[in-house]
Amino acid sequence: MKAVVSVHAKFTVGKVDDRLFGGFVEHIGRCVYDGIYEPGHPEADADGFRNDVAALVRELNMPVTRYPGGNFVSGYDWHDTVGPKELRPVRAEYAWEALEPNQVGIDEFVKWCRKVNSAPIMAVNLGTGSAKSAQELVEYCNFPKGTAWSDLRRKNGAEQPHGIRLWCLGNEMDGPWQIGHKTAEEYARIAHESGKMMKMADPSIELIVCGSSTRSMPTFAAWDARVLEETFEIADYLALHAYFGCAKEDVKKMEFFASPEVLEKQICDIIAACDFVAAEKKSARKVNLALDEWNIWYRGNPKAHPETRWQAARPVNEETYDMSDVIVVGGLLMAMLDHADRLKIGCLAQTVNVIAPVMTRPGGGTWKQTIYYPFYYTSRYGRGTVLRSHTESPAYESADCARPVSWVRSVAVYREEAGEIALFAINRSTEEAAEYTFEMSGFSPESVVEAVEIHHDDLDAVNTEGCEKVAPAAIPAGVYSVAGGVLQTTLKPASWNMFRIRVRNQEA
Ligand code: AHR
Repeated sequence: MKAVVSVHAKFTVGKVDDRLFGGFVEHIGRCVYDGIYEPGHPEADADGFRNDVAALVRELNMPVTRYPGGNFVSGYDWHDTVGPKELRPVRAEYAWEALEPNQVGIDEFVKWCRKVNSAPIMAVNLGTGSAKSAQELVEYCNFPKGTAWSDLRRKNGAEQPHGIRLWCLGNEMDGPWQIGHKTAEEYARIAHESGKMMKMADPSIELIVCGSSTRSMPTFAAWDARVLEETFEIADYLALHAYFGCAKEDVKKMEFFASPEVLEKQICDIIAACDFVAAEKKSARKVNLALDEWNIWYRGNPKAHPETRWQAARPVNEETYDMSDVIVVGGLLMAMLDHADRLKIGCLAQTVNVIAPVMTRPGGGTWKQTIYYPFYYTSRYGRGTVLRSHTESPAYESADCARPVSWVRSVAVYREEAGEIALFAINRSTEEAAEYTFEMSGFSPESVVEAVEIHHDDLDAVNTEGCEKVAPAAIPAGVYSVAGGVLQTTLKPASWNMFRIRVRNQEA
């Protein structure tokens, strides 16, 4: 099979917002307790946060981290989570049927974020919570001093404001599973009033409004337009969530490998909803998108381990990722980059233990799941300006996609400061290698700085503690060549690849 991809220095999608590479820490399963936080562990710091876990998260270079939920947030009262730890109440946590000891709260999470070089995206409870409670939280976090809430923060040890810039107005409020689920009208009212009141406490904050929680919702797109019509003045971003998988035995890998195109359709549909509302309002303002939950999720089962119900840190949704997931996660990141003009925020859900790239054993070690690596490389090198690309590749029909899906998908990011193009490519064929040609008009390519592939003959291969079967490997120099504005190489069947190409931009 042959694939030819062409870019031109003048044709760009847009600049990548660093926040596209965010993470998500929810009070769910072993994400917080026995995940990022495990006092008494040999690796724990003075605050109880595991240094080994923090080191792996830091490597992923996640500029933002969403917190504290997820479904969890809709039953959460932030007032329970601040002040002396021994006075904090233990609550029944109804979203995941666990006990919540509240030993990690607002101030601790802000500390952890500093430890991993991330900034919090704080979600407020609009399920059972109120606009007043949301406003109080902004005041607690961001008001300098001299009010009861800001002085309480100072008394609790944080003299300086936390300066939290991004806030989510609730979580998946369209879902009947959500505690305090609402109709679009009910949600739009409380979101509008909460957002207005939160911006009174700190006018510099940015707000993410809940859009449809999945593409399969009966109210998909209509919910988004309805909510945005009522919240247009306070909404800075509209949220979408997307999880992929192939749980059904009869779903072929090829369907699963088309997930990036399915995500792309969802992104385009939600952009259309945002632009429809802007048109109705005769506004030139573009409401951008926050994909503040995305990942592969089908093996992790919230109903597993019923014997652990109503325990703290009960294991739920512990997905083990394999080689095929590398191709899908790599492809989803490509789809996100291809919409960098409107998609500004992304949060890989989640960061540790729960549908996560990083795993831990209580009292023991850590390991990197297979999906750690495509995220690591794309987050590290996928920042810059996305080049519009034209792909000629054989394609296949997929039930979930209106158009044929190219066997080869790639995205190129021009990293101006580094003088490089980072090229990411997947070959979705499990049978055939791809003869791959990348034409760079308007650039003079000089050399390949780094070439990396992730490949394993067994698509079911997984990583476990102390045994990393799926890991990146350098592509030997003989496998690729750069000459006359063109990179040529062979992509192995079922592989993820990255080339960093040193270039001179002839158009600059
Ligand atoms: O990330 C796990 C869960 O998925 C979140 O709590 C919820 O928002 C979504 O349904």
